Amino acid sequence: MNINDKCMYIVYCLSFILLFNLTVLSQSLKTSKQISPDLFGIFFEDINYAADGGLYAELVQNRSFEYNPAERREWHPFSFWDFLSPGFSIGHISVETSDPVHPNNPHYIILDIEVVGNYQQYKGLTGVGIRNYGFDGMVIKKGERYDFSLFARLISENPVELHISLQTPRDSIIAQNTLYVSSGSWQKYKAVLTASANCDSASLVVLARNTGRLAIDMVSLFPHETFKNRPNGLRADLAQTLADMNPKFIRFPGGCLVHGDGLGNMYRWKNTIGSLEQRKEQRNIWGYHQSVGLGFFEYFQLCEDIGAKPVPVLPAAVSCQNSGGTWRIGGTGQKALPLDEMPEYIQDVLDLIEWANGPVTSTWGAKRAEAGHPEPFNLEYVGIGNEDKITPEFEERFAMIYNAVKEKYPDIKVIGTSGPFHSGDDFEKGWQLAKNLNIPIVDEHYYVNPGWFVTNQYRYDTYDRNACKVYLGEYASWGNKLRNALAEAAYMISLERNGDIVAMASYAPLFAKKGFTQWRVDMIFFDNKNIVLTPNYYVQKLFMTNQGDLYHKGAISKNESDSVIAISCVENSKTGDIFLKIVNLSEKDKTLKINLAEFNRILPDAELTILTGNPDDENTFENPCQIIPSTKKYRVSRNFDYVAPNMSLTIIKIRKK
Ligand code: AHR
Repeated sequence: MNINDKCMYIVYCLSFILLFNLTVLSQSLKTSKQISPDLFGIFFEDINYAADGGLYAELVQNRSFEYNPAERREWHPFSFWDFLSPGFSIGHISVETSDPVHPNNPHYIILDIEVVGNYQQYKGLTGVGIRNYGFDGMVIKKGERYDFSLFARLISENPVELHISLQTPRDSIIAQNTLYVSSGSWQKYKAVLTASANCDSASLVVLARNTGRLAIDMVSLFPHETFKNRPNGLRADLAQTLADMNPKFIRFPGGCLVHGDGLGNMYRWKNTIGSLEQRKEQRNIWGYHQSVGLGFFEYFQLCEDIGAKPVPVLPAAVSCQNSGGTWRIGGTGQKALPLDEMPEYIQDVLDLIEWANGPVTSTWGAKRAEAGHPEPFNLEYVGIGNEDKITPEFEERFAMIYNAVKEKYPDIKVIGTSGPFHSGDDFEKGWQLAKNLNIPIVDEHYYVNPGWFVTNQYRYDTYDRNACKVYLGEYASWGNKLRNALAEAAYMISLERNGDIVAMASYAPLFAKKGFTQWRVDMIFFDNKNIVLTPNYYVQKLFMTNQGDLYHKGAISKNESDSVIAISCVENSKTGDIFLKIVNLSEKDKTLKINLAEFNRILPDAELTILTGNPDDENTFENPCQIIPSTKKYRVSRNFDYVAPNMSLTIIKIRKK
């Protein structure tokens, strides 16, 4: 070959490669579409003791002495505490409210130590004090450090020595330290306790060791090791289950928790930031107490720590339509904030955006910086309202808030709401309002049986592509068996297929503490020590860790009328990874034809993850690993057959050269 021939040959080869790539590109443009990059995330609500006693790592229950009968008839400021006077010591205790550590946190206790017993037969420590059992006993681990703190104000002349200890149910001390209260004004005192033994049902004891009088509040104990070692942090193992899912966003703090039952119970984000002793605690709509120690700063920090976008939801200035009653009998009905209070309320909403994104020189940006986060949190989404009844009062207030946000922060995507069901009056009216106002995204909620998910797989295929996008903010099939999880998986495949109109989706509820649940079907069950991940969790995790932003239509073939098979193929345009997802809901194995011709140069070494088993199996505290996914290496080629086992979800992850 002479030089000219060589050149011609190279040009020929290059044009062939170019032509081939253009053909592949045009084919893939025809068969692929962009889908939401934020499709699958999580929804955290403080229901089922998800926050206090759960994700929030505080071990002391009722640390602020603010529990009260409005939360539960039998609760009072000294609930979950015991008064102690070991060794025939003599003293008094009272709950007081004058001159508190902060007006938002009015109750505290006064300890009067009259006599410290010195009865010689008594072997233990003597004194007067208090004991807290936490949330059904504290799990203490040998060798670990625990950060204790309290606020105290000395009332007597002489200082008071406080002996702080962790004790087993038989009163053996497994960690201890000493503090001296010497100031006549409220001061925070701290001590570190290092555990010398394991105990699953320990208690915290604060014992005054000499006569005197003092006021005590905000008695707190945290494991030193929290998630990412944040102070006032989160239980590391529970937070890790969220991080492992790699969610694109976290919606918080509710749910019905947001609108509350009654106007006084609405979630006000400003009450949940700043130092703990001045946060405004409140009754939880789910029948317990919210310390709001896990407040908006901590939620935003969690989002950042796990790489998820924050999606805060604020009330639409109306309360839950079921306030003061039950789902079955109805209640007092929705209450709406008086119109003359709306300007202040709207300002609160705008202030949240400034708090999250504003410069440190702004009023609210400065508060974020004060909390230790000068950089903005890059807030993109704000939810207004939670499955509220779409009444004229709601519509008026929603529009006022929405228009104010749109005007001041046009880049913020507001998420509207469309009632608690997949259809019906509120659903229709919520959507109509959204269309009238041109709201970017509408939140839909539905809890249904697994069959509903299967028969409604084509719900979003017919949604108007020019109208508002959908956030499926809450959904679940009624159950935690494999068959429920797989029905949800089939539906999630339909969400991927419709990822051009469905912007986001999150399963609900997320957490449930054993013995403290208000909602029977949840994603992650836990007690003070153990975690049970449901098959539903694994489905969510598999979809979240294998997300793409391009949907490819033709890669897997199936008979369109076969509703027991659901298939999708998505690609992550940044990494080039391709994810094939196949759900087989039938009792028979099914063979599917895979054709990857539209992808240029795929690597044969792929990874296959499968979740399968007996459809009626579920994970329990006794048997937490009955249904778990398994991953193996898998060889793929341009064309191959895959046999999807009966009752399974398969994900094949393919890399490009
Ligand atoms: O997820 C539990 C509850 O279900 C939420 O609080 C509410 O929004 C829905 O009704």
